[in-house]
Amino acid sequence: MRVLVLGGGGREHAIVAKLIESPSVEDVLVAPGNGGTASVATNATVNAEDGAAVAAFALDRGVDLVVIGPEAPLVAGVADAVRDAGVPTFGPGAAGARIEGSKRFAKELMVRHGIPTGFSESFTDEAGALDYLAEVGAPIVVKADGLAAGKGVTVAMDIHTAREAVRDCFAGMFGEAGSTVLIEEFLSGPECSILAFVDGATVVPMAPAQDHKRAFDGDEGPNTGGMGVYSPVPIVTDGEHAAMLDVLERTAVGLRSEGIDYRGVLYGGFILTDEGPKVLEFNARFGDPETQVVLPRLEGDFAEILLATATDRLADTSISWRDEWAVCVVLASGGYPGDYAKGKPIRGIADAESLSGVIVYHAGTSLDGRGAPLTAGGRVLNVVALGSDFASARERAYEAVERISWDEMFFRTDIGARAARGRSAWEA
Ligand code: GLY
Repeated sequence: MRVLVLGGGGREHAIVAKLIESPSVEDVLVAPGNGGTASVATNATVNAEDGAAVAAFALDRGVDLVVIGPEAPLVAGVADAVRDAGVPTFGPGAAGARIEGSKRFAKELMVRHGIPTGFSESFTDEAGALDYLAEVGAPIVVKADGLAAGKGVTVAMDIHTAREAVRDCFAGMFGEAGSTVLIEEFLSGPECSILAFVDGATVVPMAPAQDHKRAFDGDEGPNTGGMGVYSPVPIVTDGEHAAMLDVLERTAVGLRSEGIDYRGVLYGGFILTDEGPKVLEFNARFGDPETQVVLPRLEGDFAEILLATATDRLADTSISWRDEWAVCVVLASGGYPGDYAKGKPIRGIADAESLSGVIVYHAGTSLDGRGAPLTAGGRVLNVVALGSDFASARERAYEAVERISWDEMFFRTDIGARAARGRSAWEA
């Protein structure tokens, strides 16, 4: 099988690395890919957000399966265009991708199907939103409705910050994405992500993971795309796990009942409240960096699982998970998530990977003329360690991190530390 993967981050490097383990895969193309994917697959040039271009490229190169990594091509309907051209495609079409592309759509879907989530109101005018804020007060969450490259959500602990967030949206800070604004209940508790393969009504959940979204230790600083993650999540009770799986099942059934042909990943972002798990967000794709700790533990033919999902045969596949722990530390460029320099030579990747159970996925890298890695993004590398228990996986991940360096590299030193202290660490 020849597979085309769209995207160029750590998630896509993890997807490509897993695909090439599949006996059925002969060849993987990645567009645009990164410095890491270049060493195990073929980086290709095609505009990943242009459905017609991707379809033509896939037909020209004899691609048997297209796997769409990021949200933007999904929301742009690339899966529809490629499927219409007759190429099996892993990823929902534009109708299904609205679950991530429109927070209002997602909330309304949840309300229609009785999915537990915080209260929310949406507004298309600034005055109405500000009046509502005055009524509900803070803490409160303000969200731009559309895709805003992970920057459209403000958790406002005071009313001044909430009002500013509303004004920013309507002033066009997030373009069209901010022309509708959601004001949502602030919920507190540990967060947990569960991704599931979905084709129609068949839902096959993956192992739970917990992301660390804030830039700095102690969950301080600005929100990022994710600074580290681990899987499984020791603080989740069996009852909470069952409740989250029930939500994913009911959401898939709800999508299908509304005529949406959903084939890909349904990502549930949950918060574990005193009243049980509630949905913070849904995404229409593999999480990043969640994928980097989930896929290494997957047993079975990954390419077959993706092809089966794309062609409505998920119920026939066999999927299981290795009984291991995985911890991922994200290494970032100084300044991220704000401005940062690029082109810094990276040292020590091979040395880190020589440690048993360690994998280094590239997220934002390129290669120089001699094939040596350079920084090319905010999140640069994802250092993943597998271990027989949580403590050894965490320890091994940081041992590997110490072997890697570049000028102005930074990372969080506390990935998994809170969970290692137990559930009470969220009560303090
Ligand atoms: N890790 C968060 C996300 O993938 O959206």
